[in-house]
Amino acid sequence: MSRAGARSLPQWATTIPSVWLRWDWFSSVAVVPYVPTLGPVHPHALTPRLLADIHAFNGTGAFLPHDKDQRWARVKDEIILIGDIVHTPHETVIPTLTCRTGTLKVHYYSHGTPDFPALAEMIDTWSARQGAVAARLLWFHPPGQRPAAAGPSCVRLLLKTFHAPQHLPPSTVGDLRRQPDLAQDSFAAFAHALAADGFAFLHQQMHTGSIDAPVLVAVEDNRVVGAIGPMQTMPDPAGTPRLLPPYFGVLPEARRRGHGRALWHAAIHWAAAHGAAYLLVQTEIGGPSETLYLSEGLTTLGYVYTRPVQPAPPARRSSSDGHA
Ligand SMILES: CC(C)(COP(=O)(O)OP(=O)(O)OC[C@H]1O[C@@H](n2cnc3c(N)ncnc32)[C@H](O)[C@@H]1OP(=O)(O)O)[C@@H](O)C(=O)NCCC(=O)NCCS
Repeated sequence: MSRAGARSLPQWATTIPSVWLRWDWFSSVAVVPYVPTLGPVHPHALTPRLLADIHAFNGTGAFLPHDKDQRWARVKDEIILIGDIVHTPHETVIPTLTCRTGTLKVHYYSHGTPDFPALAEMIDTWSARQGAVAARLLWFHPPGQRPAAAGPSCVRLLLKTFHAPQHLPPSTVGDLRRQPDLAQDSFAAFAHALAADGFAFLHQQMHTGSIDAPVLVAVEDNRVVGAIGPMQTMPDPAGTPRLLPPYFGVLPEARRRGHGRALWHAAIHWAAAHGAAYLLVQTEIGGPSETLYLSEGLTTLGYVYTRPVQPAPPARRSSSDGHA
């Protein structure tokens, strides 16, 4: 992508006709198996058929049968702005809009690094047209290109393949619903303490009855100190059952005592026993979970970078609209 057009859209962005994706172009630049509106998929599930299915369902509000997001919502709210896709043999740019939050997400696929000024201009234009209030740029690096510096804007995408369930050593981990009342009651405080890791949301979903899948917990002195769940399987786009990404965390004061690894072992045991073939997880670079997953032999599928982009205020938008 040339930097020459940083104040306006690059020439190709305005001349390439709007098309749906060509498999040969897209697959050559999709260096990480991550697709708009669905997120990470198993490499074997990234197929021309998947792209066709995404196209067919786009904007209908219906979920694809394998879409993990249907756990949390009734309507598929993220749509691909098909008319704005930029597609060449070497680069593909796919914007999506989450209507409820007014968030624009721009997926940049290539073997290189994005031209940020040029993409920021495009994001301004699309945000103005769609009324987006927030925007994010996502781009991808293959497994061999580990980021030099740690940072929250980059996550490692990992694959765990399950084998036949092995003997599980005795541990304090078990299904929350089978714990004594005192321990069950302590889950609310645990969820509150780990709200940033998604447990407050999960607790709320459990409370309203939206989720009745098991949550595995580690217990100390009748108190939940760690959890992983909900434990749910769902066929992937190729029909292979996978474990859906669970929330996973241990209270700060109970860390480094083996609860995290025990929860992880219990989760993969549960998944294999329930017919799941694999799990995809995304983990922060340099964090404890990355060390844990690497020590457990997970395979790296690549890196996903995210950068927030502040859409230009309306006054600036009207002048940049003129360029488009
Ligand atoms: C990741 C987490 C669940 C680990 O829980 P834990 O109870 O501390 O884990 P364990 O004591 O079983 O440690 C297991 C391994 O994790 C790694 N690990 C845990 N804490 C670590 C730290 N602070 N620094 C480096 N490695 C660490 C080590 O490999 C450790 O093995 P070791 O003790 O043999 O060296 C916990 O740190 C946590 O809740 N973090 C915040 C939420 C989170 O990141 N969740 C994962 C989302 S993908």
